Amino acid sequence: MDELGPAVAVKGLCKEYGTIKAVQDLDLSIPSGCIYGLIGPNGSGKTTTIKMLMGLVRPTRGTAEMLGHVIPIKGLGLKVSYMPQETALYADLTVSENVQFFSELYGLGPELMRSREEEVLKVVGLSERKDDLVGHLSGGMQHRASLACAMVNDPQLMFLDEPTVGVDPELRAGFWDHFNMLKKEGRTVVLTTHYMDEACRCDVVGMMHKGRLIAEGAPGELLQETGQSNLEDAFLAFIRRCGR
Ligand SMILES: Nc1ncnc2c1ncn2[C@@H]1O[C@H](COP(=O)(O)OP(=O)(O)OP(=O)(O)O)[C@@H](O)[C@H]1O
Ligand SMILES: [Mg+2]
Repeated sequence: MDELGPAVAVKGLCKEYGTIKAVQDLDLSIPSGCIYGLIGPNGSGKTTTIKMLMGLVRPTRGTAEMLGHVIPIKGLGLKVSYMPQETALYADLTVSENVQFFSELYGLGPELMRSREEEVLKVVGLSERKDDLVGHLSGGMQHRASLACAMVNDPQLMFLDEPTVGVDPELRAGFWDHFNMLKKEGRTVVLTTHYMDEACRCDVVGMMHKGRLIAEGAPGELLQETGQSNLEDAFLAFIRRCGR
């Protein structure tokens, strides 16, 4: 725990859908000011975990706090933001109109809204396309627009569910520069990824498998602990270790 207290503290969090145990007995402590990567195969419970924290899915059991507040949290719109895995924008509005819509939801005034819009569109490389309908953008560009909307409130804590899927390598590098800048400012970025090169760039990686956290640590520590040279092999070693 850092001196500010963890940005996210989860204790015994579970989500069951009938017989499916989407998340099981999850304990997490994510320090403020770090980039935390949740990794794991399809269906391992990453999105469900984030949705529970965002108050979109009701946990079956367990508790969680974000920025010192017990979930579900109301009125933290200016401090926390979420980019869903599936792009959730209005296709028949322009990029700019979507960003403004989210700005209004977050309660930004007109002046702040304009400066934030300019900044986030620059980060995602869509300044030139801001007057295009979202429905007319390529898939990767729609994803970028979604990230812009998630950043418009200048949050302390961001949950980004696969933020770089379908994004070209050059822009992906730009995103990472931006995440590192946010971290330098003391903000916390929690993201999911299937790209192991991205997982290696996180300060802490949490490995999920069948709804459980099977390992957690800095990428170098996880490699050292398993004696492997890459995170994919380290992940497999942890699965073998827990006998599943
Ligand atoms: N609304 C739902 N109803 C029933 N089962 C669900 C629901 N949402 C998720 N699940 C199940 O919970 C499990 C975990 O899903 P989740 O979306 O959290 O995985 P994930 O780790 O994000 O996977 P991916 O890498 O594919 O995004 C899966 O078995 C999924 O089918
Ligand atoms: Mg997911």
